[in-house]
Amino acid sequence: MLHDAIVLTGGGQRLGLYHAERILDHGWPLIVTYRTPRPSITTLVSRGAIAIQADLSHPEGIAACISAIHSHAASLRAIIHNASLWLDDAHLAQHPAAFDALMQLHVHAPYRINLACEDLLRAGSAPLGDIIHISDTSVRRGDARHAAYIASKAALESLSLSFAARFAPHIKVNSIAPGLILFNEDDDADYRHKRLQQSALGFEPGAQVIWQAIECLLHNPYITGVTLPVDGGRLLS
Ligand SMILES: NC(=O)c1ccc[n+]([C@@H]2O[C@H](COP(=O)([O-])OP(=O)(O)OC[C@H]3O[C@@H](n4cnc5c(N)ncnc54)[C@H](OP(=O)(O)O)[C@@H]3O)[C@@H](O)[C@H]2O)c1
Repeated sequence: MLHDAIVLTGGGQRLGLYHAERILDHGWPLIVTYRTPRPSITTLVSRGAIAIQADLSHPEGIAACISAIHSHAASLRAIIHNASLWLDDAHLAQHPAAFDALMQLHVHAPYRINLACEDLLRAGSAPLGDIIHISDTSVRRGDARHAAYIASKAALESLSLSFAARFAPHIKVNSIAPGLILFNEDDDADYRHKRLQQSALGFEPGAQVIWQAIECLLHNPYITGVTLPVDGGRLLS
């Protein structure tokens, strides 16, 4: 059984994988969840991580994930809710059931996991446990093509306020709201140029800026119930 483990959802690729690697670099016990089997997960396991395959877009998958966490951990240091679906409203028009998947993944899964793991977080040896919700800076300005995705991330941020109040003074609960962090491989040059113009700082920073924010929240004992934008000044223009 792991003690003081960090649970990270969606750790098989991109930002989540970067965070998983840094957690292991620190020597912290890691429980990583994934949906799609990938060589990256095998590598994380070879470095000592416990990997849980879970589809968090339906209640049965969420319940199975919670059960697996309890079977592997005696206590937790933190939970980082990173798993996400980036779906636009055009996709939802064709696949209406995907709206429920967004809400399950971004709202119901964190809600259920947070409630079910309170005992594990309180059992940790650190003075305070942490829950970190990875949101999206567009919650503060809307997005004409991603209304459903942004609404689900807004609900996730709202969970930070309620759980911060509920779990104080033992567990801090915060959100990180990224702006453009990492392009997708198929983003074309026009899209990249347009997105880079949207932030005051105007560059693609990579996953490390989100990891720096996670470390800040883990180390600071006096921040709870906030959303920390990491967006290069997206709201300034
Ligand atoms: N990248 C950016 O520029 C950016 C901007 C704003 C916000 N964010 C936020 O930052 C976080 C990481 O971003 P990212 O770009 O690295 O995301 P990503 O590449 O889309 O990866 C998201 C992860 O979520 C997992 N996931 C998706 N559906 C799932 C499901 N039904 N059940 C369980 N896991 C599921 C995926 O697992 P599998 O790979 O195993 O399928 C994947 O590893 C997300 O919360 C995102 O909303 C990112």
